[in-house]
Amino acid sequence: EGAAVFNLASGSWSIYTHDGVKKILADYAYFSSQMQANPTENEPIESSILRQDPPKHKQMRSLIAKAFSAKVVEAMEPQIRKIAEELLDRAASSGGLEVVSELASPLPVIVIAELLGVPSEDRELFKGWSDDLVGNDYSRYLQCQKEMTAYFRIQIEERRKQPKNDLITALVQSCMTDDNGLSELEVIGMCILLLVAGNETTTNLISSMILCLESSPETYKDLRTDRALIPGTIEETLRFCSPVQVIERRVKADIFWDGHWMQAGQRVYTYIGAANHDEKVFVDPERFNVKRSPNPHLAFGQGIHFCLGAMLARLEAKVVLNVIVDRLESLQRLDDGPIERLDSDMMFGIKQMRIK
Ligand code: HEM
Repeated sequence: EGAAVFNLASGSWSIYTHDGVKKILADYAYFSSQMQANPTENEPIESSILRQDPPKHKQMRSLIAKAFSAKVVEAMEPQIRKIAEELLDRAASSGGLEVVSELASPLPVIVIAELLGVPSEDRELFKGWSDDLVGNDYSRYLQCQKEMTAYFRIQIEERRKQPKNDLITALVQSCMTDDNGLSELEVIGMCILLLVAGNETTTNLISSMILCLESSPETYKDLRTDRALIPGTIEETLRFCSPVQVIERRVKADIFWDGHWMQAGQRVYTYIGAANHDEKVFVDPERFNVKRSPNPHLAFGQGIHFCLGAMLARLEAKVVLNVIVDRLESLQRLDDGPIERLDSDMMFGIKQMRIK
C-alpha cells in the first residue's frame, strides 16, 4: 500500500518503492512499454525493442540477443583495455585527468563504434549524435535520427554485399534473413538504440564510480590490495548513483492497483533510482558499501526488458577500474568547489571532475 503517487498536473503516476517498481515492470500486460500508439518513421527509437510489448518484444529480443551474445561482449575486453589505456595516456600527458570528457564520455562511444564495426573516422559523428540524442533540443533530436537512419542504411547495405566480423553484420544476418526477421528500419532502430542506451548511461556509471571512490579513500585503498572488490564496487555504484533514474510505462487497460484506479493511457514513472535507496530492502541505504550483499538493485531494469547491454557496461566499468587502480595510488581531486550534477531528472551523473 502507498506505493503509487498521482500527479494531478500531468495526470501520471509515480512509483518510488522497490517492491512497487518491481511489480510494475513485471506486469507488462497492464503496463506497456509502447509509449506512442503509431510511431513515425522519423523516430526509429519509438519502434525499437525498448518500446515493444510481447509477443513482438520476444521475437526481437531473441534475434538481437543472438547477435549481442556473451561471447561477442567478452571478446571485446582486450580492445576495451587498450582504449582505456590510450585515453589515460593522453590525459596524463596533459597533467591530471578530467574524468568525464577525457575518459568516461569517449570510452563507451569508441567501444560501441568498434563493436558495431563503423570506421574510426566516424567516431566524432557518433559522439555528436549520441549527445544530440540525450540533449534537450528536440529538433536536433529528430534531425540526428534522420542522419543516423541514412548513415546506417548505407552501413547495412554494405554488410549485405560484403559481410564483416562485426555487430551490424550479425544483426543483418540474424535479423533480416527470413520472413520472421526484422525490417531494415527495425535494425536501424536497434543500431540507434545501442548508441542512446549505451553511451550516456555507461559514461555516468564510470564517472560516478570514480566520484564515489574519491569520496571514500578507504574503499579505494582496499581495492588496491583486493581486486576481488571490483564487482561489488560496480554494483554498489549502480545502486547508489543509478545512471537511469526513472523508466516509463503506459497503463494499457484500467486497473485497480495499490488502492488506486489507474486509467488506460496514463503514464507511470517507475523511479528505479529511488527504489535503489529503499530502506525496506537496503540496510543503511545512504551508505556507499561495496561489500553490500545481496545487492538487488534495479539499475538495469527488471523483467523482459532487462538491459541487454548490462554485461558490456559492467565489463567497461571493470576494465576502467582495473586500469585506474593500476595507475593511481590514490584519487585526489584537483578542482575544488562542489561537483556539478547533470541537468537531468532522468539521468544521474556529473558534469566534470579533475583528478590526479
Ligand atoms: C534496457 C539501463 C547500458 C542496451 C535498459 C533498461 C535500463 C537500462 C534501466 C530497461 C528499460 C525499460 O525497461 O524500459 C542501463 C544502464 C546502463 C546501460 C544503467 C549502463 C550503466 C547499456 C549498454 C547497452 C544497452 C552499454 C548496449 C550497448 C540496452 C537495450 C535495452 C536496454 C538494447 C532494451 C532491452 C529491451 O527492451 O528488451 N537499460 N543500460 N544498455 N539497454 Fe541498457
